[in-house]
Amino acid sequence: GAPVEVDISKMEPGQLIRVAWRGKPVWVLNRTPEVLSTLATLDSKLADPVSNESMQPGSSKNPLRSIKPEIFVAVGLCTHLGCSPTFRPEIAPNDLGPDWKGGFFCPCHGSWFDLAGRVYRGVPAPTNLEIPPYRYVTDNLIVVG
Ligand code: FES
Repeated sequence: GAPVEVDISKMEPGQLIRVAWRGKPVWVLNRTPEVLSTLATLDSKLADPVSNESMQPGSSKNPLRSIKPEIFVAVGLCTHLGCSPTFRPEIAPNDLGPDWKGGFFCPCHGSWFDLAGRVYRGVPAPTNLEIPPYRYVTDNLIVVG
């Protein structure tokens, strides 16, 4: 499949853009400072907080799983059986219970991922969401693939 360009120049804080790459959904999320500070507190709840067992390019093998901290890029498919998780950026309380810190929720079998695509412990998904290869052509233009 051809690489896909994503213009991030008009993204608002908190906004999620969805594109398709190789027939898969790819998400680009503009993470707020509040999200970034929350992510730093979650490691003890996660199955693979430093992404040792998960798929990402070397440029995204860091705690925030991204090249630039605020811009998160991921393949939007659950690593359990491939459903597409739902974007749930709000902090609990909500229907997901008192511990929800904002993330992606897979409705198929209830897997939780944080806003770095890191999977929580004790859910069906075995690994973090996949990060596709991507790069910055300019500050405001990403190429996925
Ligand atoms: Fe997501 Fe099973 S496919 S939890």
